Amino acid sequence: MIEVAAHAKVNFGLRVGSPRPDGYHPIHGLFQSVQWSDQVALAQSDEDTITSGSGGPVVDGFGNLAWSAMEAVRRVAASPHPVRLTLTKRIPVAAGLGGGSADAAGTLVAAGRLFGVPESEVMAMGPEIGSDVPFCLVGGLAVVTGRGELVSPLAASAGYALGLVVPPVELATALVFAAWDRLDDAAESPVPPDVLPPSLRAHAPLVNDLYPAAVAVAPMLDEWRAELAARWGRPVLMSGSGPSLFGFFVDEAEAREATDDIPVGARAAEAVVPAAVGWRIVTTKDDAA
Ligand code: C5P
Repeated sequence: MIEVAAHAKVNFGLRVGSPRPDGYHPIHGLFQSVQWSDQVALAQSDEDTITSGSGGPVVDGFGNLAWSAMEAVRRVAASPHPVRLTLTKRIPVAAGLGGGSADAAGTLVAAGRLFGVPESEVMAMGPEIGSDVPFCLVGGLAVVTGRGELVSPLAASAGYALGLVVPPVELATALVFAAWDRLDDAAESPVPPDVLPPSLRAHAPLVNDLYPAAVAVAPMLDEWRAELAARWGRPVLMSGSGPSLFGFFVDEAEAREATDDIPVGARAAEAVVPAAVGWRIVTTKDDAA
C-alpha cells in the first residue's frame, strides 16, 4: 500500500491568450504548491474500488480524474491487478486550488510505484490526464506555460503565508475559460511589487486574467473580494479559475488570525504556507503488483 500527500496549488499570476485550434488557451502562470493536502492511498485488492477516506462518496466515482490516472499507469504496465484507491479530501473541489489535479498527480506517483513503472514515464503522463497535473507532479514555485504542460521550476519562495478563503460557489474551469472567450479585453488591475512578500517581488506585477471571467459566472466574487480586501487592508487575488481568494501575510499566525473571522458562508478559510513539492510519499508497505 502506498500513501501520498497531494498538495493544493495557488496561482499568484495567470495570463491567458486566445484559444488554440485544439480549444485550449495558452497560459503563462506563476504557480505555487501550498501545505494543504489530500491523501491518496493505493493498494492491491480483490476487485477495483474507489472510496472516500472520510466515508462519503468520491466525486464522479470511477470517472474521477485520480481513477483515470491509475488506469493510465496500469495500462502502461499491462497489469491485470485490481486496486483499491482511497481519496481523503481536504482541498475544496472546483475551487481553483487544483485539488483534483493534485489527487491525479499523487495517484500517478503511487500507481507508478505499485505497478513498477519508472518515474520518468509516469511524469510524462501528466498532460494526458489534465492541464494542471504536470505542475502538481513537480510542485514548489514554477512558471507554467503551454496549456499547462510546460513547467519551469524556480528557486523556492518562503517567508510568508497566505490567508485563503473559498467563497460559497463551485466553478468549473471550462465554464470560466468559455466566459473569458466572451469578454472583450476585460482587464484586472495588476498587484504591484511593493505589496508582495520580498521573495515574490521579482515576479510582479501579478494579474489573473480569469478574474473578470469568474465574476461573469459568479458575480458574488466581487463582493467577497472587496469585503476581504477591506478586512485585511491589502490586495486580494484569485487562484486559477476561482473562486478561491487569498492575500499575503507575514507568517502563518497572522494569516490564521485573518482567516479566523471571515464572512459567514465561506466554503473554507485556511492559513497556508508555501510547499516546496507537489506531492510527498507518506507510507509505503510492500505489496508491489
Ligand atoms: O485540461 P483540463 O481537462 O483540466 O481542462 C479543463 C478545461 O479547461 C478544458 O476542457 C478547457 O475548456 C479549459 N482549459 C483551457 N485552457 C487551458 C486549460 C484548461 O481552455 N490551458
